[in-house]
Amino acid sequence: MIMIEPDFVTSTRASYDTLAADYAARFATDLQQRPLERALLTWFAELVGDGPVLDVGCGPGRTTGFLRSLGVDIAGLDLSPEFLAIARAENPGVRFDEGSMLALPHPPGTFAGLLANYSLIHIPDEALPEVLAGFHRALRPRGYLWVAFQVGDEPRIMTDAWGHEIDLVFRRRQPDQMAALLSAAGFDVRARVVREPEDDELTRHAVLLARKRPETDLL
Ligand SMILES: C[S@@+](CC[C@H](N)C(=O)[O-])C[C@H]1O[C@@H](n2cnc3c(N)ncnc32)[C@H](O)[C@@H]1O
Repeated sequence: MIMIEPDFVTSTRASYDTLAADYAARFATDLQQRPLERALLTWFAELVGDGPVLDVGCGPGRTTGFLRSLGVDIAGLDLSPEFLAIARAENPGVRFDEGSMLALPHPPGTFAGLLANYSLIHIPDEALPEVLAGFHRALRPRGYLWVAFQVGDEPRIMTDAWGHEIDLVFRRRQPDQMAALLSAAGFDVRARVVREPEDDELTRHAVLLARKRPETDLL
């Protein structure tokens, strides 16, 4: 079957390929400066136990590497070959695959946990139910899903960054809106953490931790 790639996927990949080196350098120590994120990721690591976990939209693989350092059996998946090259170079021994979250190739029930750390922000509202259905399928019953995103109502559209021409849409969302979508997709939302913007940030940030409702397995 021939799959036609949506334009938003093509432009997201091209934009991150252009930005990858600058992004990786600029955010090199980002996680080290964020104790709350590290604490929440450490909690996630305990919940998923032995894994396996997939970091969906892993970018340069910093979160993947942090979870790996905590002993999680984790792999990464991303659209951008340039990001994947950085992720592989920085995390020897961790598997990183090129692919789209709109078409996860894994058999149903593969993962104990999925992480979508600021990656659903590039998926338009109308495509979110399909993506969440794919996450639901790929998770084991009672598997955990981590979703992080910027809080807001209006998208941020970027046409240039650090001297590069890009075409990226950052879709901000409300935690209630995301929680309703997760619930409709067969997840129980177990926690919502909303933090205030740090120095150079424009919005609040949210992390939702959801769990696959086992009885929705056959939906
Ligand atoms: C803002 S970056 C976040 C990267 C990483 N998760 C982090 O927290 O540093 C968004 C990432 O999502 C990836 N992404 C966006 N849409 C995707 C899709 N449809 N499938 C896979 N990855 C996607 C982008 O290529 C990019 O690496």
